[in-house]
Amino acid sequence: MLEVKSLGKKYDQHWVLKEIQMSVSSGEFFSLLGPSGCGKTTLLRLLAGFEDPTTGEVWQDGSRIDRLPPHRRQFNTVFQRYALFPHLNVWENVAFGLRMKKVETRELTERVSEALVLVQMDTFFEREVSTLSGGQQQRVALARAIVNRPKILLLDEPLSALDLKLRRQMQVELLALQRRLNLTFIFVTHDQEEALTLSDRIAVMNSGVIEQIGTPQEIYESPKTEFVAEFIGSMNTFAGSVHEVREGEISLAGCSKKPLAVRPPSDGLRPLPRLTPLDSAKLMVRPEKLKVLKTQPGPEVNCLEGVLKEILYQGAMTRFLVSSREGGLTWMVEQPNTAATAKKIFQLGERVFISWLPEDGILLRSQGIGGQSESNSPLG
Ligand SMILES: Nc1ncnc2c1ncn2[C@@H]1O[C@H](COP(=O)(O)OP(=O)(O)OP(=O)(O)O)[C@@H](O)[C@H]1O
Ligand SMILES: [Mg+2]
Repeated sequence: MLEVKSLGKKYDQHWVLKEIQMSVSSGEFFSLLGPSGCGKTTLLRLLAGFEDPTTGEVWQDGSRIDRLPPHRRQFNTVFQRYALFPHLNVWENVAFGLRMKKVETRELTERVSEALVLVQMDTFFEREVSTLSGGQQQRVALARAIVNRPKILLLDEPLSALDLKLRRQMQVELLALQRRLNLTFIFVTHDQEEALTLSDRIAVMNSGVIEQIGTPQEIYESPKTEFVAEFIGSMNTFAGSVHEVREGEISLAGCSKKPLAVRPPSDGLRPLPRLTPLDSAKLMVRPEKLKVLKTQPGPEVNCLEGVLKEILYQGAMTRFLVSSREGGLTWMVEQPNTAATAKKIFQLGERVFISWLPEDGILLRSQGIGGQSESNSPLG
C-alpha cells in the first residue's frame, strides 16, 4: 500500500535520513523504533508531506505522492507536540475535521463521542483545551486524528505523556480500534516494549538509517546488527574469534576456558552467519536465557565460572550479576521466581556457574574495519 524508495533528507550539509527503504501493507501496525534524534519524526514529516525529501520517492497504491501537499495525501498525523486549537473546547477540537468535510450531524455526534470514549476524555468534552494536562491534550490529539478514519494514521509518540497504567490501557484500546477499523498505523516510539507489544512489524532506526525491519519476534530473537541486539531488551555480549566451523555449529574462543558453542535454533529463525576460523565475532545471550547454577553442568551446555556480585529481587524475576574472569565482564542473568528457584539460596560472593544452550546464543560478525554487517549499508 505504501512504498518508500531510497528516501533521504539533508539539512544544511548533514544527512538526517539516508536510503530509507520500507513498504507498509494495508491494515498493518508498523512501528518506527530508535533512540532520540535518529530521524523518526523527520521520516513521518516526509511521509505526511510537511517536508520535501532530498532524495527518493514515496508511493501509495501505485501513485507517486512525494510531491503532493499534505492535504492531498490520505494521511492523518498525531504530532509529537500535539497541535490542538487553543480557542476551541475538547468536543470542537475533535469535531473540527468532520465539520470541514460537512459530515451530517448524527454521524458527527456518533463519531466524536466514540473517539472521546476511546481516549477516556468523554467527560471532558466541554473543557477548554488550554486547561488540560499534557497527557489529556495528547489523548484529545489522538481522538482528533482517529475520528477522520484516515487510510494511514501517522502517530508520533502518541502515548508518551501518559502514566504507565493509562498508557498500557490505551495501547490495548488503540490496537483493538486499529484492527476493528482496519486502519494502517505508522507508529513512532522509542519505547521498545511498546513497539514489541503492538506492532505487526518494526523498523529499528539508528542515526538516519533503518538497521532492520522485521516482526517483533525476528527483531528480538534474530537481530541482524549489534545495534539492534543491544537497543532491544538487555544483552550479554562476548567478543571473541571463531574457533571452529562445523555443520550446524560454530564455536567461539576468547577468554573462556572452553570454546563456546552456537547452534541455530530449530525454528529456523536464526541461521548461523557465514564465518571462517579466526574471524572476529560477537556472541550475545539474553539474560533470561541464562541460568545460575551452584554446580558445574554437563558438556552439552555452554558454561562460565564466576562470582555472584549482586542479587536483585524484582518481583516476577530475580536478576543476578555475575562477574567472570572468563568472558571478562559482568553477566546479567534473569530467572523467574518460582518455588523451584526459591529453594536455591545464593550468597553474595559465592562461586557460581552460568550456563546456556548453544541454541540460545546469537552470533554476529564483528562490525567495524573489515567486518561490514550484512544489513543495510548507509549511503555516503
Ligand atoms: N529543520 C531542521 N533543521 C536541521 N536539523 C533538523 C531539522 N529537523 C530535524 N533536524 C535534525 O534531524 C535529526 C533527527 O531529528 P528527528 O526529530 O527526526 O529525531 P527523532 O528520532 O524524532 O527524535 P526524538 O525521539 O527525540 O523525537 C536530529 O539530529 C535533528 O536535530
Ligand atoms: Mg521525534
